[in-house]
Amino acid sequence: MSPADIQLDENGKLKHFLSIEGLKKPILQAILDNAKSFISMGERRIKKAPFLRGKTVVNLFFENSTRTRTTFEIAAKRLSADVINLNPRTSSSTKGESLLDTVNNLEAMSTDMFVVRHGDAGTANMIAHHVPQHVRIINAGDGQHEHPTQAMLDMFTIQRYKPQMHNLRVAIVGDILHSRVARSQIHALSTLGVAEIRVIAPKTLLPVAVETLGVRVFHDMDEGLKDVDVIIMLRVQRERMDGLFLPSEQEYFNLYGLTEKRLKQAAPDAVVMHPGPINRGLEIDSAVADCKQSVILAQVTNGIAVRMSIMAMVMGGGQG
Ligand code: NCD
Repeated sequence: MSPADIQLDENGKLKHFLSIEGLKKPILQAILDNAKSFISMGERRIKKAPFLRGKTVVNLFFENSTRTRTTFEIAAKRLSADVINLNPRTSSSTKGESLLDTVNNLEAMSTDMFVVRHGDAGTANMIAHHVPQHVRIINAGDGQHEHPTQAMLDMFTIQRYKPQMHNLRVAIVGDILHSRVARSQIHALSTLGVAEIRVIAPKTLLPVAVETLGVRVFHDMDEGLKDVDVIIMLRVQRERMDGLFLPSEQEYFNLYGLTEKRLKQAAPDAVVMHPGPINRGLEIDSAVADCKQSVILAQVTNGIAVRMSIMAMVMGGGQG
């Protein structure tokens, strides 16, 4: 079964949102277009739309999260849903209840949508195969596989600053190997048709055969940043490294850290992005994280509108 099959209903409308891989450009574009209409809501006095009125959304996060969980909660509340945040560390999963039993029980309470983050690749997909027809699943990060809503908020942010996406050179820098964000971004950037996708990383932090994803590989940071329009820095995912992937942290920063001097290699109006959480002084210099070209906090704000767009669409609202 192709990854798209379970994500779309019989009319080709978005039903679950599990991975960018397998989704076609019109769906990605519709997500971005609908998000535009939600962005101004954040500035209104009454920040509510009725798309999820009467629906119950459960945030099921088996891994830590600040931005993703909170922005999903805000997004669901702005769409008028009832939202439950389940912390598996204090729930019955610590008493040995299986994941699907937890889901069955929550489903028995008439949950309409699960937003799932889990350390194992494929978890959201497995739940989507398990739940009844009317229940919707959104992947908020599965292991090292995908983090599709993050990629869409990144695409939305890029499009806001650089509307001519087909002309763009985009560099993704750092721990590509462990990054579900990078994997989703690469699929999204290539489906939306940017001019060039570069990955910049030491050999030890790149997946095997990464070129087959349609990216240009650079091991030298200055070379890779030359004339790019968008720089996406990735967090060094120390918690996913069980062996020795890095030389010392100081050496990593010397070779791959984004400094003000290195930023000058990029186009003068290049934007700097990072999904967060950032490690200041490891992958990004503090001065760059806070500089005028940094759009890192705009990414967080845009995350609300983009997640509203995706939640409304899987519930059958606002599809183009
Ligand atoms: C990312 C994640 O959890 O995959 N963060 C996020 O969702 N904002 C990236 C990371 O943890 O480095």
